[in-house]
Amino acid sequence: MADTYDYDVLIIGSGPGGYVAAIRAAQLGLKTACVESRETLGGTCLNVGCIPSKAMLHASEYFDAAKNGMMAKMGVEVTPKLNLPAMHDQRIDAVKQLTGGIAFLFKKNKVDWIKGFASFRDAHTVEVNGETKTAKEIVIATGSSVTPLPGVEVDNSKFVVVDSTGALELPKVPKTMVVIGGGVIGLELGSVWRRLGAEVIVVEYLDQILPGMDEDVRKEAHKIFKKQGLTFKLGTKVTGCTVKGKTATLTMEPAAGGDNETLEADCVLVSIGRRPNTEGLGLDRIGLETNKRGQIEVDGEFRTSIDGVRAIGDVIPGPMLAHKAEDEGIAVAEWIAGQTGIVNHAVIPSVVYTWPEIAGVGLTEEQAKEQGEVKVGKFPMLANSRAKTNHEPDGFVKVISEADTDRVLGVWAIASVAGTMIAEAALAMEFGATSEDIAYTCHAHPTHPEALKEAAMAVQGKPIHV
Ligand code: FAD
Ligand code: NAI
Repeated sequence: MADTYDYDVLIIGSGPGGYVAAIRAAQLGLKTACVESRETLGGTCLNVGCIPSKAMLHASEYFDAAKNGMMAKMGVEVTPKLNLPAMHDQRIDAVKQLTGGIAFLFKKNKVDWIKGFASFRDAHTVEVNGETKTAKEIVIATGSSVTPLPGVEVDNSKFVVVDSTGALELPKVPKTMVVIGGGVIGLELGSVWRRLGAEVIVVEYLDQILPGMDEDVRKEAHKIFKKQGLTFKLGTKVTGCTVKGKTATLTMEPAAGGDNETLEADCVLVSIGRRPNTEGLGLDRIGLETNKRGQIEVDGEFRTSIDGVRAIGDVIPGPMLAHKAEDEGIAVAEWIAGQTGIVNHAVIPSVVYTWPEIAGVGLTEEQAKEQGEVKVGKFPMLANSRAKTNHEPDGFVKVISEADTDRVLGVWAIASVAGTMIAEAALAMEFGATSEDIAYTCHAHPTHPEALKEAAMAVQGKPIHV
């Protein structure tokens, strides 16, 4: 295909969207290049997102289990001593290995890695480091970056006011950390530093944490985090921040209006969301406009309004999740190769990797009720033999199904391994399962997923263990 162009496909960005698209395109016989401005491949996810945050979450979970008496309860008495540099080393090592793994896969699949920042010259041409590269199809997979908060200036080099990237690398445990935004990043990284000894205060604009999740889940998660020692200031907005030396002073007021309040901290994490990366891409040169949220709109084949230009991942509408970007990466390459690439955007699981984990797929109960009558089954983890044995009493599984057909519309879970459990729910929904299908599927005992089976049985009003 590439005789009049340098490449059949050129992908801008090597995050989970871009690198997966590049590998799939090459697997399908297309001459493929991927442009990346970072030193290493893997995008936000591998370098400063999913992977390093999970490295810190996993390690700090062990520390917490030793410190909070959980291990002693099981007859393992230890007094943990934090070696923060070693904890950071294992994070850095995980990132190094995984980003290096992508470089290996690029070589193996003969994907050209073009190092530099790409900017459109025309719909089939980008400029990178002063050189032009042409392709029949160009895929924008430039991802997203932190949404700034006016009045609160992030400087990751000083470790006082940081975003998620700075919060992954703090050289010492803060005494007090204020987290602005009670969303996924705030709760994950707030949990890391709370476990390691910081007093963590979460300031959230809305009157509840975790927007977009099922109402029951949001309430229960709030209770669990409070019990663990996180402090919440809900319905509160931060209006400014001054930094003197190593101390930040935040000014806040009730979201509904009212008196100002100040709060001092030696670390402030700004985590109020992320916005699509389109700056400097030269979209104006090809006449491609973004929507009100700065996203690039696409059709079912990931085509933008400009012929030959497609887009995937965080830069287009939908949840900003690595696995969504990856699936879109596979699909876009398949469309370009003349195949049919399918992503079922109605079945994209989301997981918060706290303790316990919080996960969901499909509709919340509130969304499902807007569509018609539903049946709901809920099962507490306290009644799941494995969770009980493991001293993990918190949480529940909830199955929401359509009243008429029993088709499962959504599944939500708070459980130590909810992120792993939700895969079964996603698979069931992908196959159009009813709650009865899940209820009559034999689940190994004793396992946490038995709670999903029981929640499905509860939809019929017939759980066994409650
Ligand atoms: P990105 O991963 O953002 O990659 C885009 C790449 O494009 C970047 O490397 C950037 O340098 C490059 N780029 C941008 N513009 C240009 C240009 N003009 N030229 C060349 N290169 C360019 N999601 C999950 O599903 N699970 C998680 O556990 C999870 N944890 C997260 C934790 C944190 C702290 C953060 C910040 C995010 C997390 N996410 C998680 C979200 C996840 O990282 C993103 O959804 C995912 O990385 C999006 O993939 P992408 O390919 O669209 O873009
Ligand atoms: P988020 O959208 O999850 O949460 C932001 C929170 O900040 C919201 O609760 C919002 O109401 C609040 N907020 C907004 N403005 C505010 C203000 N001025 N003052 C106080 N609160 C304010 O965004 P977050 O946590 O930054 O994460 C960004 C994205 O990264 C998420 O959309 C998520 O998809 C992705 N991510 C995914 C993870 C996962 O899958 N486990 C982990 C981390 C990030």
